[in-house]
This record gives sequence, structure tokens and C-alpha cells, in this order.
Amino acid sequence: MEIWAHRGCSLKHPENTIEAFAAALEVDGLTGIELDVQLSKDGVPVVIHDERVDRTTWGVGFVKDFYFTDLQKFDVIPSLEEVLTLLKPRLIEGLKLNIELKNSEIPYEGMEQIVIDMVKSFGVEKSVIYSSFNPNSLKVVKQLDENAEVAVLGYSGLECLNEANFNVHCEAIHPYIKKMDIPKFASDELGMDIRVWTKDPLYPKTESLFSHEHDLKALERKGVTGIFVNNPEDYCNKLF
Ligand code: G3P
Ligand code: CA
Repeated sequence: MEIWAHRGCSLKHPENTIEAFAAALEVDGLTGIELDVQLSKDGVPVVIHDERVDRTTWGVGFVKDFYFTDLQKFDVIPSLEEVLTLLKPRLIEGLKLNIELKNSEIPYEGMEQIVIDMVKSFGVEKSVIYSSFNPNSLKVVKQLDENAEVAVLGYSGLECLNEANFNVHCEAIHPYIKKMDIPKFASDELGMDIRVWTKDPLYPKTESLFSHEHDLKALERKGVTGIFVNNPEDYCNKLF
């Protein structure tokens, strides 16, 4: 089972920060790191989950309404360029990076081209998987780069399967762990990676980790090949 660091090591460190990604680089056996990208007012790709800055910073407002230099003042929103600079040596060695394009609520014009160009400028395109809840954006990614690896993000397995079969040419699907409702024969037939995402606690939550333990063997029996978790260090250290 592939173990992925969701928003970096985001249980013990603030999500989607250089600190959380640096911690993920210390985890032996990790398959890859996941992060979320939005665009600033001046079109700079920045790594933050929400469309607004309110939850993770002391600021108020939409990411799209801030210039990048103003987003930098929050200290906790790295640019994609900063993150790629940190990760590049390991991505070249085989670590994977899942870039989630956060464009299902705000259809950032030109986001796909901006992100693809930046990834290519770092020479790490073979290690990157693009995902989005917006299937049309994934189609744009494939139009811009037919070699790009793409994963359909969705809530249920069947929803993802439907997109993969009839709409988006993709290499993987990423359903929500609790809605992995694809029968085993269908996941076998699909012949794609199936990576599930979770809604586990994020930093600075301190509730018991063990109440959020996921049964990897049971997931494997359903055809799941990877899992995005906030505490990948615990999974890779076989605490679970
Ligand atoms: O890519 C899987 C997962 O990150 C999707 O949900 O809300 O954590 O971005 P979310
Ligand atoms: Ca995400």
C-alpha cells in the first residue's frame, strides 16, 4: 500500500507548509506528498487548501484577491516554486508529488498551463500526478501535456469510475475512503491506481490518533493501492 503525506505531515505540523513538507521528507518508506494549489491575484501558484486565507492565517479574504507579495506576509503560504525547490532532489530520486488543482469552486483562468510550465521548469514532471475535483481541468491538463499523469478526484468510487470510463483520460482515481464503493471485480478491471483520501484530524488537533487508524489490509482487499494520511510517519513506522 502506498502511503502519501496529505498536505505534508499535517497532523504534527501546519498543513501545506514548508515545515510539513520538510517533515515528510524525513519519513522513510513514503511514496509521495500531496498538496493543494490556488492562484494569487497576480497568477502565482500558491500552496493552500482553502479558497480563503481565513482558516489557516490571521488574514481575511480570498486567495485570488491577494497579490503574492501580500500572501507571503502570512508566512504559512508557500509558493509552489518554493515547495518544488525543497522537494526537487527527492522527486528526481523517485518520490512522487500529487498536485491538486483547487479549481472546482474558483475556475482559475490558465491555472493548468501555469502549473505545468513550473513543474517542467524544475524537470520533475515524471514524478508529478495532477488531480482535481474539476474533471474539465484534468482534460485541459491532458490537452496541454499528453504525458501528464492525471487522477480523477471525487467523493465516491463510482463517481470517479464514471468519470474515468466516460469523460477523462486518467491514470488513477482518488475517491473518499468511506465511499470506496467499487466492487473488487470492477477495480481489478479498471487496472488503475486507486488512492483514497481521508478527513482525519489536522494540526493542531490532539485527539487520539488511534481512533483514526485505517485498516490497510481491508482497503487492499477492495483494490485500493494508496492512501493519503495526515500522519504518514505513523503508517510508515508501522505504528498502525
Ligand atoms: O487529494 C485528496 C484530498 O486531498 C482531497 O481532499 O479536501 O483534503 O483537498 P482535500
Ligand atoms: Ca488536497
